[in-house]
Amino acid sequence: MSVAEQYQAFKQLGLKLDMSRGKPAPEQLDLSNVLAEALPAWHAADGTDARNYGGTVGLPEARALFAELLDVPAAQVVVDSSASLSLMHDVIVYSLLNGVPGHAPWVREPVTFLCPVPGYDRHFAICEARGIKMINVPMHDDGPDMDLVEKLVAEDASIKGMWVVPKYSNPGGVVFSDAVVRRLAAMKTAAPDFRLLWDDAYRFHHLGEHKLAVANILDACAEAGNPDRAFVFASSSKITWAGSGVAALAASPANIAWWTRHAGFRSIGPDKINQLRHVRCLKDLPTVEALMERHRQLLKPKFDAVLAQFQEHLGDVPGVSWTQPQGGYFIDLVTPEGAAKRTVALAREAGITLTPAGAAFPYGVDPKDSHIRIAPSFPSLAEIDQAARGIALSLKVALSA
Ligand SMILES: Cc1ncc(COP(=O)(O)O)c(C=O)c1O
Repeated sequence: MSVAEQYQAFKQLGLKLDMSRGKPAPEQLDLSNVLAEALPAWHAADGTDARNYGGTVGLPEARALFAELLDVPAAQVVVDSSASLSLMHDVIVYSLLNGVPGHAPWVREPVTFLCPVPGYDRHFAICEARGIKMINVPMHDDGPDMDLVEKLVAEDASIKGMWVVPKYSNPGGVVFSDAVVRRLAAMKTAAPDFRLLWDDAYRFHHLGEHKLAVANILDACAEAGNPDRAFVFASSSKITWAGSGVAALAASPANIAWWTRHAGFRSIGPDKINQLRHVRCLKDLPTVEALMERHRQLLKPKFDAVLAQFQEHLGDVPGVSWTQPQGGYFIDLVTPEGAAKRTVALAREAGITLTPAGAAFPYGVDPKDSHIRIAPSFPSLAEIDQAARGIALSLKVALSA
């Protein structure tokens, strides 16, 4: 059968799969069903009644848990409600409107962010929505192109921030080296109020046997004499329940005091009931790691299935490659220039909805139209096997046109 005939036959299967986002599968969510029964009492260790208002910085035991998970002092952690993305958004909005500690509001001058690409579409969407200009920075195997980053931040005082997903990045699966972390912490910036938005979304989300570690950015910044440079974000979204977990922010004491002041205007306190449930279920680092191992066992076969299908159908297609992530939620399929959009459209016609081509770039524009984000987590193993074949066929058809 020709590639076109194989694609037509695939279309006839009438698949209907949404792989546009990296969502945990139902069986992954089931791993945390104990949360539903986890509230024998609603008083926190310090006597706080979690059913009532208050506690902007989160319950002490929730802060202690995230302090252990993120390897930072509990006083430098705030635990909020369910989404780390909301914390990122708020840090940006507070910085725009009020300025970071000791500095003028960003919004008085043009504001630019550096964006390692390919990257996370929702980071870029926040910038676009809040009027922040974005500059693409290429991602290497060990992190962003640091020579370029250092040059840009040294020259341009409008660069106030940079997005960072330091581990198993979305979508490239990149793990930052110690050298890159040190350079980000120590680089000279023309803007005195420059900030790293350090999104540690995949800290525990290993796919390989080895648990890769990234150097502690808050320590690196403090050692380099830039203690206030980084805001670290994390959540239990892909540990327990996505959208119904708890989110955390870690930063220097000055940044935590600043965040707490501003967050106090936006809410009378986070969902402490959910914090209590999470503390009771997640307990400590070893318990979280054991849970993540169960996630790994569910996710790994799906990633392996995609990689095997790509190898079988695309292994000998010139100009096509893909990442082999050691963790995280994505595979980045790299096509010859100009083929990504067409491939995504063909996959959609065959019943597979992918993240729009270009989404991993600021303004939705992939200059080479060559990256497709594959999110293997949500479909079942049988579905993902078929879907990966359908994506490979779609790419082959796109290339043969
Ligand atoms: C890099 C990254 N950061 C943040 C999020 C969302 O995190 P949360 O659910 O805590 O808002 C995701 C979800 O896909 C992500 O990939």
